[in-house]
Amino acid sequence: MSFNEWFNDRLPVAQVVKDHLTEYYAPKNFNFWYFFGSLAMVVLVLQIVTGIILAMNYKPDADLAFASVEYIMRDVWGGWFVRYMHSTGASFFFIVIYLHMFRGLMYGSYKNPRELIWIFGMIIYIAMMATAFFGYLLPWGQMSYWGAQVIVNLFETLPIIGGTLSEWIRGDYVISDITLNRFYAFHYLIPFILVALVYLHILALHQVGSNNPDGIEIKKGPKGNRWSKDAPADGVPFHPYFTVKDVMGLVVFLGLFFAVVFFVPELGGYFIEQPNFEPANPLKTPDHIAPVWYFTPYYAILRAVPSFAGTQVWGVLAMGAAIVVFFFLPWLDRSPVKSVRYKGPLTRIYLIIFAITFLVLGWLGTLAPTVEYTAMAQFLTVVYFLFFLLMPCYSGTGDNLGFSGFLLFVVSLLLTLSGLYIWWVETPDLAMSMKWIYSVTSVVLLFWFGFKPGWIKPDPVKPVPERVTG
Ligand code: HEM
Repeated sequence: MSFNEWFNDRLPVAQVVKDHLTEYYAPKNFNFWYFFGSLAMVVLVLQIVTGIILAMNYKPDADLAFASVEYIMRDVWGGWFVRYMHSTGASFFFIVIYLHMFRGLMYGSYKNPRELIWIFGMIIYIAMMATAFFGYLLPWGQMSYWGAQVIVNLFETLPIIGGTLSEWIRGDYVISDITLNRFYAFHYLIPFILVALVYLHILALHQVGSNNPDGIEIKKGPKGNRWSKDAPADGVPFHPYFTVKDVMGLVVFLGLFFAVVFFVPELGGYFIEQPNFEPANPLKTPDHIAPVWYFTPYYAILRAVPSFAGTQVWGVLAMGAAIVVFFFLPWLDRSPVKSVRYKGPLTRIYLIIFAITFLVLGWLGTLAPTVEYTAMAQFLTVVYFLFFLLMPCYSGTGDNLGFSGFLLFVVSLLLTLSGLYIWWVETPDLAMSMKWIYSVTSVVLLFWFGFKPGWIKPDPVKPVPERVTG
């Protein structure tokens, strides 16, 4: 018996390689947008490896943390390199994930039968945001401190439990050494949970098979290719065909990544904010507190929603809803086709508008608010949510919306009632034009979902070819 046989009788490595690589048949028409899943895996590993090396010299102590990072930068051999790879890696991780998610939006990769892949993806996204948030406190710079202060204070706006909850998160009345210790513990832990989540993400993917730019289910199409008579005719073995393709993507990615690491690691204050080169000072608030760029679209939404009925909780709820609403995409999109290639013009246009809205909100979130910027953020917040709320209509076939229609009716009723209410209460931060936009939109939604008027025509879809193209 060879060593291979002996080993595989006990641990089926060869079978796993076959099932997931050499005999996993992926659609042959994968394009540029399919680089980002494997890139995300590489970046996750890079973050874990560089993070562990940083942890060897980092001190999670409010008196020592800032100096220990400076020590890593100046005295530890190669320390600057590892630190800049880790800080740049965090931003690149989000760039890769946003592109990965946008691919999902374009090609309807969240649709039946891939709902669970999407849901695991969203849990991964939230876990990534938590990791980044916890990690940002660790250098104990001014922005670390005040950014964490602002975000944890958000919980204070929740009714009844708010105060206790934010204290419980901090472990103290303000961000302190105690907070730093627990954030460090979570920052070290969550990436390993991420590894487990990614494993489930891939397991769910390989159960149903990959989607592709045409949105055609290759498993349901004709069978038989040059490797196997039972495999989908439009599939090619993942290894070596896509491993080679992904290596090419990786080389380009590493070129860009190391260009930033070596030449512009702060990227003009977007990757590492300038106030973070000063140690945290609880007695001195920076002029302008803004989170790192990957959180700013949500931060802009948070700031756009004015305080209402004596509480600021609405902004917090809107920010939470802006993330949670992604979970519902598989059920909001009622189009008979998956890929944007075959969807109607309404869907295509709104997808482009949504992408631009997300970017502009991100830009607004980095700026100090002015009356004009706030009005713009308020308008874009409405556009952002309408992308999701209107999806059952503009993506649908024009027929009855069923139970989701009833739910949307209830939501639009609540929106209309709150739209009426803002005319009665004092809302000094809310531009007059926004009161109009909000109220008129909610009434239109109510009408739409309440009466389901027959004149709303479905967005015409194009015929999907039988086999994948390209
Ligand atoms: C650590 C983060 C993540 C890693 C390592 C990861 C990894 C992967 C990999 C390797 C694939 C297959 C290759 C590809 O399609 O590019 C994939 C597919 C997919 N991922 Fe992710 N992913 C991550 C996060 C996310 C997030 C945040 C979402 C969305 C919320 C998401 C949604 C999807 C979907 C829908 C597919 C199927 C795409 C298709 O077949 O067209 N993933 N992921």
